[in-house]
Amino acid sequence: MIPVILFLTSFATAALAAPKIIWDGRLKMDFPATDLDNSTTSPYNAEYVLGAGQKWSEQLVFPTMSVTGPSLFDLVFKDCRKPVEVTINNKSIFAPGGNAQKGFRRSELLPSINNGTDATVQGTTTLHLSVREDVHRSLNYSHEYQIAFIETNDFSSHVWTLKTGTPFGSSEVPAKDAKTLRLTSSTADGKAEEVLFSVPFDSGCWHNFAVQTNWVDSTISAWYSSGYGFMSEVVETRANNATGKGQAHIGILKLPTPPATDPSHEGYQPSGINEGLIYGGIFVEDSSQNGVSLTPW
Ligand SMILES: *[C@@H]1O[C@H](CO)[C@@H](O)[C@H](O)[C@H]1NC(C)=O
Ligand SMILES: *[C@@H]1O[C@H](CO)[C@@H](O)[C@H](O)[C@H]1NC(C)=O
Ligand SMILES: *[C@@H]1O[C@H](CO)[C@@H](O)[C@H](O)[C@H]1NC(C)=O
Ligand SMILES: *[C@@H]1O[C@H](CO)[C@@H](O)[C@H](O)[C@H]1NC(C)=O
Ligand SMILES: *[C@@H]1O[C@H](CO)[C@@H](O)[C@H](O)[C@H]1NC(C)=O
Repeated sequence: MIPVILFLTSFATAALAAPKIIWDGRLKMDFPATDLDNSTTSPYNAEYVLGAGQKWSEQLVFPTMSVTGPSLFDLVFKDCRKPVEVTINNKSIFAPGGNAQKGFRRSELLPSINNGTDATVQGTTTLHLSVREDVHRSLNYSHEYQIAFIETNDFSSHVWTLKTGTPFGSSEVPAKDAKTLRLTSSTADGKAEEVLFSVPFDSGCWHNFAVQTNWVDSTISAWYSSGYGFMSEVVETRANNATGKGQAHIGILKLPTPPATDPSHEGYQPSGINEGLIYGGIFVEDSSQNGVSLTPW
């Protein structure tokens, strides 16, 4: 709680010209896990994306605050919000319409209001999230992980993706830069993705991202900081096809290792896994007028 006390004094002057928050996924300290299973009480989709038969109250755990600490944007006025850990095991096999995606292991939070054409994908919006490693449920960096992305409405591509691990199909496994966080560009219209920003995924600290999309002009910009640092621009505004709009996914999508021509249904996944990633400060703000929040105070 130390950061909260330290920064409390500067809160008074904040908020005035802050961008409006469209959707807030930050959970209060007393938020019970079972409320995540109920669409009335959860800020996230209560059913998706999980393995068949799995529940959020089982796949999502609340990390010990004294170890993890709140993330940058969990330091809200006079209070704080708690981080959430998304976990996967070998039953994390999503089966839309009964068609099991055996190649993937997935647990991804979806903003409840984000139906593909709602306010989070109109005008200019910014998705904020912080992520950190759990050394007790570490990822396997021989695999590719997509840990936040916006999937287009027709499910054919991503507007942007935050990744870690070894890119699927890499000749070197694990890749030299496997343990990096990489923001990649739109894959609309069959375009190959480009890495727009990459930073080592250092353990023991929060990594804060703000990814902004102009849904009208199809551009992307991004800001980053680690720990409790002021965020700085790491991707200057550039063209990025956002015409497909879509839905934000925040969590773990673990790809298999090759060979697989259809990695969602084929490929190799070791059994007996217990992996997790800790997230905090998840919210979407309207950046049409007042830009992007670079600090919470
Ligand atoms: C979901 O939450 C609402 C509001 O608290 C409550 O009325 C309802 O009974 C809950 N549903 C279930 C299935 O627990
Ligand atoms: C999505 O949400 C918006 C805003 O609430 C609503 O106007 C629209 O009808 C919804 N679309 C679908 C397909 O449910
Ligand atoms: C990591 O993944 C690779 C490829 O699936 C697998 O061979 C290896 O056993 C895994 N390592 C651990 C520690 O699970
Ligand atoms: C953006 O992607 C859509 C397909 O989703 C395509 O029809 C359109 O031509 C693309 N626009 C640009 C500028 O590449
Ligand atoms: C899950 O792991 C168990 C043993 O750890 C194994 O028997 C089972 O086949 C695995 N299931 C899948 C879907 O990989």
